[in-house]
Amino acid sequence: MAVNRPFRVLGIETSCDETAAAVVQDGRTVLSDVVSTQVELHARYGGVVPEIASRLHVERIVPVVDQALAEAGLALADLDGIAVTRGPGLVGALLVGVSAAKGLASVTGLPLVGVHHIAGHIAANYLSSPGLEPPFVCLVASGGHSHLVRVLSHDRFEILARTRDDAAGEAFDKIARAMGLGYPGGPAVDREAEGGRTDAVSYPRMDLGGRSLDFSFSGVKTHALNSLNRLTMRAAEEGIDVWSLMPRRDFAASFQSAVVDALVDHAFAGLERTGLLVLAMAGGVSSNRELRRRMAERAARDGVALHVPPPRLCTDNAAMIAAAGSFALREGRRDGPEMNADPSWELDDPI
Ligand code: KG4
Ligand code: ZN
Repeated sequence: MAVNRPFRVLGIETSCDETAAAVVQDGRTVLSDVVSTQVELHARYGGVVPEIASRLHVERIVPVVDQALAEAGLALADLDGIAVTRGPGLVGALLVGVSAAKGLASVTGLPLVGVHHIAGHIAANYLSSPGLEPPFVCLVASGGHSHLVRVLSHDRFEILARTRDDAAGEAFDKIARAMGLGYPGGPAVDREAEGGRTDAVSYPRMDLGGRSLDFSFSGVKTHALNSLNRLTMRAAEEGIDVWSLMPRRDFAASFQSAVVDALVDHAFAGLERTGLLVLAMAGGVSSNRELRRRMAERAARDGVALHVPPPRLCTDNAAMIAAAGSFALREGRRDGPEMNADPSWELDDPI
């Protein structure tokens, strides 16, 4: 491949409830970024229904890929490779993207590479921070994952910490549901918490003891649910609305602040542990405004370079998959027609 010729990769993402396709140039520039979300359809069930997700991916994958190519002003023949999320995620959902990518690779003869969903989230930072290169530490906080990762190279990762129970986004979703804020809960809590007091409910600081950097969000979640139950019972006894005992925004802000405290503390402990001074953020929860504000504050104080993708690149998208795939393809990684979806692929599994 001539070095000065643009290198364009089509990315496909169908691991959960977004059908997405995008074209990225040289792993750094988004030429198109199409996301067809199913969120309204799952909202009535209060979470993602795997069977519905797979069916909708099947319906939408072809138009979404067509739209990504049209918006980039390119034909399949103009591409240099195809990247697809191979795992982790819902197996039936992953299979739709993997099959589409394999089909396209086989008819065009283009090289194909399977991308780890979290490696994709991390690679969103290469799109929004053109000069960013490994090594750095990345906090990945989404609905399915809460990881602290040492990024060694574009496709080598060391997991410094993971969650022992719930993911951060899962905790947001569960509390939002209990508060009657609907699904997905993260953005709703973020909005509701605006201007609220962060000390209305006091939370014990998360400390797992020893040298572990692991997260645990079930304690914060249970504490929030118990507090809400107590308030609800008192309100019922007094025959009043629960939110007249404590403004809803104060309850939301206190819970959000407890989760943000843990994420900030652990991310900076990870920097200290590795001696690195570059921190990136990834995953849907990284679009949380309080988290972004507190991370920026602490980074400025500690002299840390902070990289945060715009919210659109924090939540699931295919541009991040195309970016991660571009680097992998350029480094010579290839997957053949035998590639399969792997719903439990670990980020640090040897490739
Ligand atoms: O990365 P993502 O789109 O999908 C997964 O790979 O899981 O993350 C979705 C998660 C959901 O739990 C959602 O509630 C959470 O990210 N989220 C937020 C915000 N926006 C999305 N959590 C807190 N604040 C937000 N603004
Ligand atoms: Zn994700």
